[in-house]
Amino acid sequence: MDKIIIDGGARLSGQVRCSGAKNAALPLLAATLLTDQACILENVPRLKDVITIGQLLGKLGSRLEYQDKSTLTIQTPHLDAYEAPYDLVRTMRASVLVMGPLLARGGKAKVSLPGGCAIGARPINLHLKGFEKMGAKVSLEQGYVLLEAERLHGARITLDLPTVTGTENLLMAAVLAEGQTIIENAAREPEISDLALMLIDMGAQIQGIGSDHLVIDGVESLQGVKHRIIPDRIEAGTLMLAAAVTGGDVTITDCNPNHLIALSVRLRETGVEVEEGSDTIRVKSDGQRNRAVSITTAPYPGFPTDMQAQWMVLMSLAEGTSLISETVFENRFMHVLELDRMGADITIDGHSALVRGVEHLSGAPVMATDLRASASLILAGLAADGTTEVSRIYHLDRGYEHLEEKLTGLGAKIRRVKA
Ligand code: EPZ
Repeated sequence: MDKIIIDGGARLSGQVRCSGAKNAALPLLAATLLTDQACILENVPRLKDVITIGQLLGKLGSRLEYQDKSTLTIQTPHLDAYEAPYDLVRTMRASVLVMGPLLARGGKAKVSLPGGCAIGARPINLHLKGFEKMGAKVSLEQGYVLLEAERLHGARITLDLPTVTGTENLLMAAVLAEGQTIIENAAREPEISDLALMLIDMGAQIQGIGSDHLVIDGVESLQGVKHRIIPDRIEAGTLMLAAAVTGGDVTITDCNPNHLIALSVRLRETGVEVEEGSDTIRVKSDGQRNRAVSITTAPYPGFPTDMQAQWMVLMSLAEGTSLISETVFENRFMHVLELDRMGADITIDGHSALVRGVEHLSGAPVMATDLRASASLILAGLAADGTTEVSRIYHLDRGYEHLEEKLTGLGAKIRRVKA
């Protein structure tokens, strides 16, 4: 398994481009199942998860072809299968996103239950409850969910929680259902709006985009589309914090500052300068220790849970004590023990972590446990004195496109070695 080795201490500077959003690319790719016509996706990030969902779609009958390194043509003339097998779903739980399109277009789906993952149980009960309300018959068999529906019909669905992929799954089911579907307490992440906009360009009728109240009037069929994927706000946020933890001056291009307001506001409170352009963000730190700023994660537009681990690194080096509360997932503090091994002073108490800022972190061999934890360990290595070795970085490759190359371009002393 590859490792990433970082010699800490370099202050990052320069410009870096933000890639397309992983968490938009996955539902957008699943949505192409809803038509038999060709779809073209631009700004596709080259990530393990995108490759995985491409493999899954290939099994279902899709033909995928890269026009260039980030433009993908995908067409599913007819569905050859309806099953998302365990070996794929267990490596990427977002495979559940094929449920909605398979049900909507082919009337059935057989998807392995994703099971838990490092950060929590992550059930999909709300997805299934919504499909049942739309007329699907749902049964569980040998670890698989079987869904069947002659034709889905509209329904009023009130989500107990603003589930992101749950909202996406039900939205994709509703666009071809008979009649009107209302999704209340829908998640409002920008990736959902990006999906809705592409569906509208395919001929869907959706109102309330960006709100927690979506109204969808089903149509008979959808046509092909050309769509550019929005920038990855979590990659951009991670790069912003890489600048902040190293006392650097970095401009991130091809990003959308409006998707990062909760992070930018908190970052300014720590004393870091954040300048927003139309599609750029500049993060400038004077190299002084940052003020400690507590955060609580929340569904969009609140502070993103996917930035919690990275924020913790900044707070580990801040002047003072901060409280970091994780309200979205029940087990998203596994990076804490690794950061403590690098000299951080963090104490977990239930869903909160108390972070007492220290002057320095020291490099150490550490192990990644999940995608965003791996990013936080890299940020810690950039800021630490000495050398840090991050193992199990297959987690990182799921969600970041050549992160070590991007950081090298900003002056980081970082390299990947084949272990
Ligand atoms: C999406 O996961 C993202 N993944 C996650 O990003 C992100 O952390 C999460 O949303 C929250 O923003 C993709 O978009 C592919 P949820 P998702 O359903 O949809 C509970 C990353 O690092 N819940 O919004 O799986 C659930 O247990 C990944 O890029 C139910 O109880 O998250 C969790 O506590 C990690 N029942 C909460 O809701 C359900 O049916 C939010 O989960 C569904 C969810």
